Amino acid sequence: MEFKNAPASVNLEEGNRQHEYMEKVKEIIAEKTRKTGKKPTCCVTTFGCQMNAKDSEKLVGILQEVGYEVIDSEEADFVIYNTCTVRDNANQRVYGRLGQLQYYKKHKPSMKIALCGCMMQEPSVIEKIKKSYRQVDLIFGTHNIFRFAELLYKTLTSDEMVIDIWKETDKIVESLPVERKYSFKSGVNIMFGCNNFCSYCIVPYVRGRERSREPQEILNEIRNLAEDGVKEVMLLGQNVNSYGKNLDTPISFAKLLTEVEKIDGIERIRFMTSHPKDLSDELISVMKNSKKICRHLHLPLQSGSTRVLTRMNRRYTKESYLALVEKLRSEIPDLALTTDIIVGFPGETPEDVDDTIDVIRKARFNNAFTFIYSKRTGTPAAAMEDQIPEEEAQKQFNRVLEAVLKTAQEQTGMLKGLVKDVLVEEINEHDASLVTGRLSNNTLVHFKGDTSLIGHIVPVRLTEAKGFYYLGELV
Ligand code: 5AD
Ligand code: SF4
Repeated sequence: MEFKNAPASVNLEEGNRQHEYMEKVKEIIAEKTRKTGKKPTCCVTTFGCQMNAKDSEKLVGILQEVGYEVIDSEEADFVIYNTCTVRDNANQRVYGRLGQLQYYKKHKPSMKIALCGCMMQEPSVIEKIKKSYRQVDLIFGTHNIFRFAELLYKTLTSDEMVIDIWKETDKIVESLPVERKYSFKSGVNIMFGCNNFCSYCIVPYVRGRERSREPQEILNEIRNLAEDGVKEVMLLGQNVNSYGKNLDTPISFAKLLTEVEKIDGIERIRFMTSHPKDLSDELISVMKNSKKICRHLHLPLQSGSTRVLTRMNRRYTKESYLALVEKLRSEIPDLALTTDIIVGFPGETPEDVDDTIDVIRKARFNNAFTFIYSKRTGTPAAAMEDQIPEEEAQKQFNRVLEAVLKTAQEQTGMLKGLVKDVLVEEINEHDASLVTGRLSNNTLVHFKGDTSLIGHIVPVRLTEAKGFYYLGELV
């Protein structure tokens, strides 16, 4: 019942409709503010990837627009969890924290609890929440996040649990407010969804088919960001290398990058994520000749064993991955490579893991996010018979981690002693006399400095290499 098909008529006018709902919610919030003498508070908690972080900025944009005060504490008047379901532990964390939220709500019954994001696209999750988490007021999914203003209105004017989940959408709604977390850098969605169906992955089921934004919409957004003082953009998509293929007027990702490069004010361009099977020579050449595209590529390996890669439906081999890395290294010698690796995929043997470790050594990754395989209901890998016991997976995971740490330290250390540009992002979390920033190749650098440096690109001598990061001195 809740899993509706998206209305056929969703289009750009949808943006206007949502602005009308924002006006209605504004009145409700203004009334609450008048009554209590202070703005009601809201808190947005994000689980998962950069795409979710970007979606949360859209939620915060709307909440601020209608008059909420955004706070970090979950003892707020409106709390929303933007969830992730890529691995089961992400789901478990949400359930754990929901328990705590329900406790807050007992003491403050006027509080509203909302859930959205990837986890909500799974019917079994909705059933569980309806049964065991009755305090939840609003649930929506990934395809109708642009209807948040309307759903917020319904929630604030009803005592029932509001549930609105769509199976799919082929539309993209532009022109809604966004509240950026950083003033000097911003993620920019260039596409949504994924068509790859890697056999372990739930993303194509919860984020739907690939849809690219029109290049003009993307470029206009980036021009506006640049005018607003943004220096670094991160182009976001599950598989950016296939950007633009399905547009009415197709355009390649490499071509989009050359257009972004022309925008004055933008000094650094990043993108995420690349699928090795789609990484073109055109892209390598554009990166090589670019002054703005950062010297970093996140290129998920998943496994170094061709046998496992085939079962994962990754559509490349150990050899073709390594050949691609060689090509990248010879064309762009200062490129930092990072990756994702899954250990414990069904049927994976210690010999398969040897292959993964072999690729880690040969590819010389600067960093690798290593995950233990998590069985996701509905994916082809979940139905495979030879699932690996937890202890065995953990044993192999430790071997992989050891190999990663070694190459990461070696690779990161290579710039020691050099002076490199750093975009300063924030005051160091642990030591307020330090600031933290990033090199073009994405490595973190900590050095003495103050808030006046935040948002500036400054030259820093990399005095000490500390595994995954550097300590440095402003020059
Ligand atoms: N189990 C473990 N890791 C997974 N990933 C995706 N699906 C799963 C799963 N079922 C990892 C992949 C992907 C990253 C975002 O999450 O490595 O690149
Ligand atoms: Fe998942 Fe594969 Fe798509 Fe990445 S490319 S989101 S791992 S299906």
